[in-house]
Amino acid sequence: MGQYEKHVFVCTGGKTCGSQESEATFNLFKNGLRDAGVAQTVRVNKSGCMSQCGHGPMVVVYPENVWYHSVDLPAAQRILTEHLLGGTPVQAHLYIAPPGDHKLNKE
Ligand code: FES
Repeated sequence: MGQYEKHVFVCTGGKTCGSQESEATFNLFKNGLRDAGVAQTVRVNKSGCMSQCGHGPMVVVYPENVWYHSVDLPAAQRILTEHLLGGTPVQAHLYIAPPGDHKLNKE
């Protein structure tokens, strides 16, 4: 059994997501979870690159292994309300790709 019911990772460290306001996405989750009183059971952390550069900001939720793309502030608000607090993943931002690297901007 893990320490948290859900563990959310927001890519903020990579070159691409880091330039797509992913810090604001992270802060929306962090503040929203705290304000909802669930910060002890739903954890959000910043992460480095997830090798999906160009699709971001990228977000992944464990243990469900649900990946999201293009998580701007409106998308983050929906994910917070509907998934992290409500339990239903947001279909419009699901990131579905075969396993592996899917960088749009190879560097
Ligand atoms: S910079 Fe976010 S997936 Fe690579």
